[in-house]
Amino acid sequence: MQETSSTQYLSERVAGLKPSGIRKFFDIAATMKDVISLGIGEPDFTTPKPILEAGIRSLQNGETHYTSNSGKLELRQAIADNLANLYGVHYDPVNEIVATVGVSEALYLTMVDLLNPGDEVIIPTPCFVSYQAEVILAGGVPVEIPSKIENNFQLDPDEVRRHITPRTKIIFIGYPSNPTGAVAERDVLLEIAKIAEEHDLMVVSDEIYDRLVYGFQHVCFPSLGESLKRRTILLGGFSKSHAMTGWRIGFAAGPADLIKGLVRIHQYTIMSAPTTAQDAALEALKSGEPHVQGMVAEYDRRRKLIVSGLNKLGLKTFEPRGAFYAFPQITASGMDDEMFAEKLLREEHVAVVPGNAFGPGGEGFVRCCYATAYDQIEEALHRMEKFMQRYG
Ligand SMILES: Cc1ncc(COP(=O)(O)O)c(C=O)c1O
Repeated sequence: MQETSSTQYLSERVAGLKPSGIRKFFDIAATMKDVISLGIGEPDFTTPKPILEAGIRSLQNGETHYTSNSGKLELRQAIADNLANLYGVHYDPVNEIVATVGVSEALYLTMVDLLNPGDEVIIPTPCFVSYQAEVILAGGVPVEIPSKIENNFQLDPDEVRRHITPRTKIIFIGYPSNPTGAVAERDVLLEIAKIAEEHDLMVVSDEIYDRLVYGFQHVCFPSLGESLKRRTILLGGFSKSHAMTGWRIGFAAGPADLIKGLVRIHQYTIMSAPTTAQDAALEALKSGEPHVQGMVAEYDRRRKLIVSGLNKLGLKTFEPRGAFYAFPQITASGMDDEMFAEKLLREEHVAVVPGNAFGPGGEGFVRCCYATAYDQIEEALHRMEKFMQRYG
């Protein structure tokens, strides 16, 4: 019998999604020994002990049931208190916050909540690989605006203005940035705020890396003004700050009417975020601060090592002030980013991610995650030095 393909049954939306440019490299790396991975974007630390123990306690106490769709009120209260303490921004935990399965779910809910078919979303690139996909899955159209190294990878407000059409609904921002490590400067955010107000747009601000900043005070977008807060959905989480990627917990905060919509989608698709993870996240907010600070100090040490190391190799590297990524320009190697990443992996067993995987503006760069042990970064730099001696 002739083999038939089932792809014809895929919805156009799903068929239109590009495969992630990150996966391919992990698949190659998985077949090799002795690989140093600067590829994957997650903390190498395991979750701090008090948080782990809270999760275990939760299970042992029989907390094995659904929670309220929005998440346990105690957790939402703690998230609200934390945002008030850190940024002076106030949300009502009862109807302005929902606990989600990571920021990933919060992104999906937000797009489905806000977009009608054909609505346009302005997205600064290079950016986290899911942004465009979430927009497409919700029937929207991503409008990519590349940011440039000469501009410290800041979103250019004039470019945003140029890309606004009658279909524009959302300006998407994500700072500190994956993959560039850029933080958002207050002036730029104020300009974005002005544009949003002038054109009556929503702003979605993914601030998952808010706690991972180095010598910089993070600016929480909705803290810039009460009227701005009413047109903003703030996304945040625990994966990066508290080394909790596997727990799958995050949140969305915003105006009650919109959060009500998010909760409705969440209710029909997820029901409630994992109960164990909610209890662990609550503990993270109660007692996690010294652990966050300890991890940030260690990331900062690694950040300095990798940025100076890469620059010494002739790979021009912008100083990242947030997240845990360095984003060197690799044009001195004479290769494009795809070839650079593949050869570096095959020849020196160092995994990095080609910049083009993060959208326009990423070409000619690679992303190196420094949430990897200090001595591993030293060894990776040593291997990259040998590589650059051959190709630089
Ligand atoms: C910018 C950004 N947003 C969201 C996420 C997803 O995080 P979560 O684990 O909370 O789903 C990531 C993960 O890499 C990220 O880098």
